[in-house]
Parts: sequence; C-alpha cells; structure tokens
Amino acid sequence: MRSVVEDVELPADHPGVSDPAYRARRAAIASSAAAYVEGSPIPEVTYTREEDSVWRSVSTELARLHERYAVGAYLAGAAQLDLPNDRVPQLREVDARVHALTGFHIRPVPGLVPTRTFYGALAERRFLSTQYVRHHSVPFYTPEPDIVHEIIGHANMLASPPLADLYERAGRASLRAGSDRALEFFSRVFWFTLEFGVVREGGEMRAYGAGLLSSFGELQVFRGAEMRPFELDAMGTMTYDITRYQPVLFAAESFESMVDELGRFFDTFDRR
Ligand SMILES: [Fe+2]
Repeated sequence: MRSVVEDVELPADHPGVSDPAYRARRAAIASSAAAYVEGSPIPEVTYTREEDSVWRSVSTELARLHERYAVGAYLAGAAQLDLPNDRVPQLREVDARVHALTGFHIRPVPGLVPTRTFYGALAERRFLSTQYVRHHSVPFYTPEPDIVHEIIGHANMLASPPLADLYERAGRASLRAGSDRALEFFSRVFWFTLEFGVVREGGEMRAYGAGLLSSFGELQVFRGAEMRPFELDAMGTMTYDITRYQPVLFAAESFESMVDELGRFFDTFDRR
C-alpha cells in the first residue's frame, strides 16, 4: 500500500488548486489515512484553527437550516450523534458513536475511492470517509466530498437506524450489479435518493439526502427544484451534473414510503 502521498490531484477550478500550503496539508492528511490498517485505531488528525473555524461556521449554519429542511429521521440521528460544533470531530470518535447507535463503522480513506469499493463497503456496514477539510476561502462550497459532507451529511444519517439499514441494503445491491452499466443505474438511484432525496413530511418538502443536507446553498433553494414522482426507473436513467444545484429532484410521498420502496428496490436489484 502506498502510504506517503506526495501531492493531491485537484481540478483546475478547485479553490485550493494554487495554494501550496493547502495542497501540502491535503497530502499530509491523505498520507495518514493511507497508512490506516483495518483493526488498528483510526489515525487522529490535529486540525488547525483555520480548519476548526471552517467546521464551526458550516456546522452551525447547517444545523440551523436542518431544523427547517431536514426529515425527522435525520434530525433524530443527529441529536443522538451529538457532534461537536466548535471543532472538526475525529473520525475515531464519530466511528465509536455511530457504531454504538447503529452498528455502522466509519473508516478513513485518503480521497475518492473506486465506486465499487465505496458502495461495497456499505454492505459490511462500513462507510469510507475522507478526513480533509475544504478550502477556507469558500467555507460554504466544496467541489468534492470533504469531512464536512461525509460527517454532517452521511454520519448523521448513519446514526438513524432506518437510514443505516438502507445504506447496508444499498451496499448489498451494488454487489449484485453485474456490469458497469448496471452499476451506473444503481449509482444514479443512490444519487437521487441517499444523496439528493426529498420527501413530503408535515405538509412540506424535507431533505434526507446527504448531498442536500451538507450544502448550505442548495438546502435553502431545493424546494424550488422541479419535483418529480418517486420513480426508480426514471432516477436510474437520469443524467446529472454534480457541479450545479440539481434542477430536478424525486420526491417520495412520505419517509416511510421512501424506505419501503427504496429498500425493496435495493433488495431485489439484480442487473447485468
Ligand atoms: Fe456523499
């Protein structure tokens, strides 16, 4: 295993692309995650004051928005997990708390992992998480998953028993995708549900997708998106652009009906 990461590849329009200190910081955190071996303690990252400050601003603002826009199951999970608002939490402590609540583990990875690896881990109730923090110049935006997205978006979901079970069922479904095309179909359904899903709850649209719940800007405007019925075949064939707010979302009639239908889809997914 390569355990020293010399540099990280960032796209040309990444906010940190021409900041050498940020790149070096990313490489150092990636090296520590790359050295992780299953069964050993998750490496701690000593976050800087700047990184803690990014976390503080984003998590405080998002928590305020969640009260208004997040589904009840997410809010219940977040209340149980009770993450700190004033500093970046260590994956080790998030892992211990999530595991005690739902049996899910959080495991560190240096950066994006292959699609099959990421989804396959879910089948074993393991969520692969990055540890780095987005660039401080734009705290409310990231072009890639960072620890804010992973933990505020996904770990809070994984602290909710019905949502954690859905993640595992998604992971098992991914293992039955017998071709790249089938995996693509599955990934699109995952995108429009567990990343960008919304449901009708208490007479209004509320978000349960981690992508929405970790996006300060999009969370305030998603109710203006075109809402289509919860049709899995439509999701699986729909293209999307990760660099902009989603113009189309798929809305379930209730949280319970979403869990039922999506769970059944994952349990019976078997495509070539
Ligand atoms: Fe995500």
